[in-house]
Amino acid sequence: MRIDILTTFTEMFPPVLGASILGRAAQKGILEFNLCDIRQYSENKHHNTDDYPFGGGAGMVMLAQPIYSCLDAVDPEHKARRILLSPRGRTLSPEVARELAKEEHLLFLCGHYEGIDERVSCAMDEELSIGDYVLTGGELAAMVAIDCIARFIPGVLGSSESAETESFSDGLLEYPQYTRPAEFRGMKVPEVLLNGNHALIERWRRDRAIELTLSRRPELMEHVELNKKDIAFIQSIKKDEKAR
Ligand code: ADE
Repeated sequence: MRIDILTTFTEMFPPVLGASILGRAAQKGILEFNLCDIRQYSENKHHNTDDYPFGGGAGMVMLAQPIYSCLDAVDPEHKARRILLSPRGRTLSPEVARELAKEEHLLFLCGHYEGIDERVSCAMDEELSIGDYVLTGGELAAMVAIDCIARFIPGVLGSSESAETESFSDGLLEYPQYTRPAEFRGMKVPEVLLNGNHALIERWRRDRAIELTLSRRPELMEHVELNKKDIAFIQSIKKDEKAR
């Protein structure tokens, strides 16, 4: 997948995109990052990328010209799915990430200051938010989105199943994990994980995931597909609660 990133802060990206799983995916050629410095396309004398808002008010607004010129240079035929990072966009979720992971070419535009000249919107395909809070700019949001999307691209994760067995992929929070030693500072790893009975381990993990989701994010349970054993387990929890 090719990913173009339009930003006035290109220096923020290489440490994140070049490290760990994203860095390995880029080395393998699964991901191709193309950082584009919007400032280089500014046609004004001082290479400004922002100006005062018409109508007055606090802060600065990003100019349409450098962004349009950058888009013309990077994606002249509008082949990329163009995404503007903005708190007013649709919220990133596993479903959105899975959908975007199917694209061959994504383009992220990172906004800054108080906003972007509204006339840029019609050059974009959609707006994407990473949550109901306001960041100082779209760069961190773009990195979060890229990281989240990349996990759904075949070959990016070491084991092909990991993206699907983790938190949220089956609608549940993830079960607790342990590694060596079996006892640390008096805290023991649950016995069931040590005995090699895979059916029992799977059931234990599913029960813990259900328990955690019920107690921390009960609203997520609505979208979970429950089997007979899950339902029996939930009933047993509820019985225990009543008995207390
Ligand atoms: N830019 C500023 N805040 C943002 C958010 N929450 N999501 C995406 N882009 C943003």
